[in-house]
Amino acid sequence: MEAPQKLQRRAQRRSKRTRICIGVVAIIIVILPNAITCALLLSESTRLMNPVTILLPLYTYPTKNAWEPLFNAIDQNPSTNITVIVNVDSGPGGEASPGSPYVSAVRRLNAAQNVNTIGYVRTNYSSRDIDLVIRDVATYSRWSDLDGTLAVSGIFFDETPHDLQQLQEPSYLADTNRAVENSAGIRDPKLVIHNPDTIPSARLSPPGTDVTVIFENSFDAFQNSEAALEALPGSRSSYSIMVHSVPSGKNLGKLLRTMSQGAEYLFLTSADEGFYEHFSGSWDRFVSIMGS
Ligand SMILES: *[C@@H]1O[C@H](CO)[C@@H](O)[C@H](O)[C@H]1NC(C)=O
Ligand SMILES: *[C@@H]1O[C@H](CO)[C@@H](O)[C@H](O)[C@H]1NC(C)=O
Repeated sequence: MEAPQKLQRRAQRRSKRTRICIGVVAIIIVILPNAITCALLLSESTRLMNPVTILLPLYTYPTKNAWEPLFNAIDQNPSTNITVIVNVDSGPGGEASPGSPYVSAVRRLNAAQNVNTIGYVRTNYSSRDIDLVIRDVATYSRWSDLDGTLAVSGIFFDETPHDLQQLQEPSYLADTNRAVENSAGIRDPKLVIHNPDTIPSARLSPPGTDVTVIFENSFDAFQNSEAALEALPGSRSSYSIMVHSVPSGKNLGKLLRTMSQGAEYLFLTSADEGFYEHFSGSWDRFVSIMGS
């Protein structure tokens, strides 16, 4: 028979164990659901609105390896849609063919299921002679005559007017858009993108524009523009947002989630100069978030 003292100590130990057990159970009951909610909220806060498409201004010549970060991204993210703006020389260049390095690089882009290539055309806020604009569209359209696998599937009109006052000729933008629509050499979906360089007036809605770049500026400017962007009337599928000079250390997932709420076509870069002339340090991370 055990001494009463020993029995008492054992009972105390048991009740201590019970208290610890109750404590642990309480912690599980109280804290665990909160932890789960917290984790959900956290993943929620970085989850992008869907669908999203990468809109990449690729204003660099395809010298050996220059486009390799893009080809890698395409291979590694076969279910991420990427629209690539090709720009030979602030447009298609003066020749019928963009030259053999371009031909083989564009052919390689077009071979990917998840890529649309579109041609860059500048309009100088509608000051540029419309005949020259239409000639550029026609040059891209004729790439398909050189080689069927070279066809672009849309046009990116840069420097479009952002309001009716800036528009020199009322029909200018409808005419440029119609030129794309009527080009037999431009493949479906014959995407027409306008880039007014600044938040456009809601009153400007030229027929035939599929997507408008509603923001193309620095990260700092983006912080001050969210309300103005939210006030725009269109759906996110008709908008693009491009943010440059993103400081290193920023949470790109969070930034892209905010961007994806306003627009489907997205681009961001940490570059603070020559934004579209090289792949910056943020490229791989950007692509992987867009694909997740
Ligand atoms: C990619 O684009 C295709 C064709 O427009 C579409 O059917 C598909 O849903 C898109 N995929 C994603 C992940 O958005
Ligand atoms: C754009 O148009 C303006 C006139 O509105 C002209 O002064 C300027 O030279 C043009 N820019 C280019 C690059 O053609």
